[in-house]
Amino acid sequence: MSERIDLAALPHDFLWGTATAAYQVEGAVAEDGRTPSIWDTFSHTPGKTANGDTGDVACDHYHRWREDIALMRQLGVNAYRMSLAWPRVLPGGTGPVNAKGLAFYDELVDALPAAGIAPSVTLYHWDLPQVLQDRGGWPERDTAFALAEYAAAVAARLGDRVRLWATLNEPSCSAWIGHLEGKMAPGRTDLTGAVRASCHLLLGHGLATQAIRAAAPAARVGIVNNLSTVHAATDRPEDVAAARRHDGHVNRWWLDPVHGRGFPADMVETYGVELPLRTGDLTTIATPLDWLGLNYYFPAHVADAPGGPAPYVRAVRREDVLRTGTDWEIDADGIETLLLRLTEEYGARKIYVTENGSAFPDVVRPDGSIDDPERQEYLETHLAACASAARRGAPLAGYFAWSLLDNFEWAYGYDKRFGLVHVDYRTQMRAIKGSGHRYADLVRAHHSRA
Ligand code: NOJ
Repeated sequence: MSERIDLAALPHDFLWGTATAAYQVEGAVAEDGRTPSIWDTFSHTPGKTANGDTGDVACDHYHRWREDIALMRQLGVNAYRMSLAWPRVLPGGTGPVNAKGLAFYDELVDALPAAGIAPSVTLYHWDLPQVLQDRGGWPERDTAFALAEYAAAVAARLGDRVRLWATLNEPSCSAWIGHLEGKMAPGRTDLTGAVRASCHLLLGHGLATQAIRAAAPAARVGIVNNLSTVHAATDRPEDVAAARRHDGHVNRWWLDPVHGRGFPADMVETYGVELPLRTGDLTTIATPLDWLGLNYYFPAHVADAPGGPAPYVRAVRREDVLRTGTDWEIDADGIETLLLRLTEEYGARKIYVTENGSAFPDVVRPDGSIDDPERQEYLETHLAACASAARRGAPLAGYFAWSLLDNFEWAYGYDKRFGLVHVDYRTQMRAIKGSGHRYADLVRAHHSRA
């Protein structure tokens, strides 16, 4: 069963997890003092999400979390990556803490270890309090300091039970998709604002790292980036240069500064935007990390697009390749390449695959079972590639499948299902899919070796 995956290459204390994010699963958006985030605003703006879907109810995890922990126990996982909703904890963005909001997470991080599951907390998975957006959001420097204030508040309360902390989830999406492409909250299309946002996100990351450590000395802090392998569509020099720019845009811009290398000069030139940095900011951004998080979904094939917008690159769709239900090309080798790149080029000492997974349309059989061979295949081939990277020296310490549950897939709404567990949104009934059972088998097989 597991012979294609070299489980022996994975350390005995490997974290086998699943992941979710607050806005995608919690619902209860107006309960117990939570205020709106930019994603409430965006999803309630006509035309921004498929079918006008919103996270108002989502998986109702806010009320059903005990059931969801029971599902994780059935899967046999020993870790859970979750995010906190900033506007639940600090309804004003900064200032007074909302006791009820924090109490929700407090109960969760009590219950998880009691179920043998280590909680890993991400501070910012895209749900900026709308009040902070009203003051300018990430393009404004103050937002970085607000993140640090929020970090200090939650680390002080949860840091005795949560060891693994991530500051940001996929800041590249916040900056580029949210502020340049306009397809995610806050829905801007402004290069200057996007570049400013990217700098302040990373500054906030550095400040928050320091704040978490000050409040919770045992914390192990990292950042979660979505990275892609990048291929030039042809060997024309223009396309090769475009691939280099795309690598700069989605990979190096996010990795170099946190590793003390500053922002890549070629990209600063490509964007042509003055960076809003002050003396000392680069040092703060490069505050040493305990681990790197890798979210991997697909490779990129790109060509030159001289007409813009920056970075003057267009995606090239390849035919005759397998794709997921989100139309993303499947390439398991990419995750191995990236794990080795983080190890060799960036000297990573510990890496977690903080997300990896696939959406496919699921069919529920009359007996209620869900067979999802494509998702299962995606899971197995990518796990095999992870194990191979570990065998070749990548310090891989855990894998978090995206996602525990089908959930609100941002602009795709509820159409795209990534869960190992199926959710019937009419009844909120959960059912473990075939891929979930397979994951449980693999986790068990690895544990029985240890
Ligand atoms: C990455 C994001 O962090 C997560 O929120 C999203 O659902 C998955 N990718 C799938 O698109």
